[in-house]
Amino acid sequence: MQNTFYITTPIYYPSNKLTLGNCYTTILCDSLARFNRMAGKEVFYLTGTDEHGQKIQKIAEENGVDELSYLQPVIDDTKNLWKLLDISYNKFIRTTDDYHVKTVQKIFKKLYDSGYIYKSKYKGLYCTPCESFWTEEQLVNGNCPDCGRPVEPMEEEAYFFRLSDFQDKILKLYQDNPNFLRPRSRVNEMINNFIKPGLKDLCVSRTSVKWGIPVDFDSKHTIYVWIDALPNYLSALGYLGEEDADFKKFWPCDVHVVGKEIVRFHAIIWPAILMALDLPLPKQIFGHGWLLFGNDKLSKSKAVASKEVVDPRVLVARYGVDAVRMFLIKEIIFGQDGPYNQELFLNSYNTNLSNEYGNLVSRTCGMVQKYLGGVLNKAENLTQQDQQFKAYIMDCRAQVFACMDDINPTGAINKIFEMFSRCNKFIDETTPWTLFKENNLSRINTVLCLISEALLIANTLLCAFLTDKPKTIYANWNLSAPTLFDDYKDFGFIKNNTSVTKGENLYQRLDINKEMQELYDLA
Ligand code: ME8
Ligand code: MG
Repeated sequence: MQNTFYITTPIYYPSNKLTLGNCYTTILCDSLARFNRMAGKEVFYLTGTDEHGQKIQKIAEENGVDELSYLQPVIDDTKNLWKLLDISYNKFIRTTDDYHVKTVQKIFKKLYDSGYIYKSKYKGLYCTPCESFWTEEQLVNGNCPDCGRPVEPMEEEAYFFRLSDFQDKILKLYQDNPNFLRPRSRVNEMINNFIKPGLKDLCVSRTSVKWGIPVDFDSKHTIYVWIDALPNYLSALGYLGEEDADFKKFWPCDVHVVGKEIVRFHAIIWPAILMALDLPLPKQIFGHGWLLFGNDKLSKSKAVASKEVVDPRVLVARYGVDAVRMFLIKEIIFGQDGPYNQELFLNSYNTNLSNEYGNLVSRTCGMVQKYLGGVLNKAENLTQQDQQFKAYIMDCRAQVFACMDDINPTGAINKIFEMFSRCNKFIDETTPWTLFKENNLSRINTVLCLISEALLIANTLLCAFLTDKPKTIYANWNLSAPTLFDDYKDFGFIKNNTSVTKGENLYQRLDINKEMQELYDLA
């Protein structure tokens, strides 16, 4: 088994309006990172921010400050949000970091020296007041999409990357590695929309944008977007830097998780750059879907207009981080688009957290107290029904690992909840309350011991996904929280004379109507 796991989110555009949608990629990647850590691998989870370009230059100007002063509080806010959501990244990269700037300049030079980058002219439609180039398609009523003023044809000197050289190589890559880009449907999208029409060389420098990494051998040029942003996945590991042990250990990446709108950059441009650098390619690009609000990608303006709370901070403050993570991982099928609204969110909380999971924990501990005086012993004299129950739980457990090997966190968490629901069913089948009337205490003990162990085996897997309550429940059985899945991997860990307490109610059931009203008032 491979013992390292390198996973990345895209680097985010700095924004102080991050919604639940923006948290989607980081939370899903965090669950993959935590899962692989608990499986015993050494994980490197990278996230960060994409800080150069015209847009930032402009906002900073409007605020009357330099770019870095404008950026600092925005980056601090982003890091605080990731902290609130328990994002366990190993490194946060900023494209303004020194080491990144140096690596990007070296990459640019390398590509220039090997002939993959050449100098030519960029032709486009220019808005002089905005100092921006636009393409025909970007114009709004033939005018600048930013200020609405007329644009004029212009050309400027620029460097280009020979993307057109890679047409066949990228097609062959998809053919030889059916898992390179997932879900599979995105491969056809790439081929039909971008590769078949023909890959054009890519403009990779600008003289009209000042806020960017300068081309060190031609300093009137700054490096334009993709050769700056994409190499963050290498520079974060020390590639071409002074200390490249992480690069040697973690590259190639196991998976770049990205939203579907940037799959093109990761599945076409990025492998081409890596081939040109003669570097191994990432093992997988996973293009996830969007959190939708109505028919559109969730955005702050649309949500506010219809009075829906989409601020992750508000949701975490009211319902806890488990509720937010739960919704994104379980209710939105990884790889597909899925809807968000308050009502769906609140229902998911009640159904999954309060009823299925939280209730099982308190019910089980409550019965140990009520029927067994709070003391649990090892399970004995197992029946065929018990053996089948155990086999079912262990089979689900194996399927959770299979799902995660397949980068399917939604499938994995659904399996975990199947384990909880099987436990609930087992209680209904064995009816401890009837056994109590019959004074069959040894049978009650066996049943409640098996349920306790099954739910803790499932709960140990759940710890990779939900970071708040699950780790606390071990104390109910006088056990310690796991660091590895192996800590609770099979039945038999409950010892004789284990005293069991009920613990706090994990997730208070919500009155949906009341919550809806209060949320609308907040939005
Ligand atoms: O694209 N649903 O950054 P970004 C799901 N800087 N995911 C969403 C979402 C939604 N409603 N809204 C945003 C960039 N995201 C570039 C990347 S990488 C070298 C450069 C996701 O801040 C989006 O799909 O626009 C992406 O994965 C991430 O948030 C960052 O998006
Ligand atoms: Mg975007």
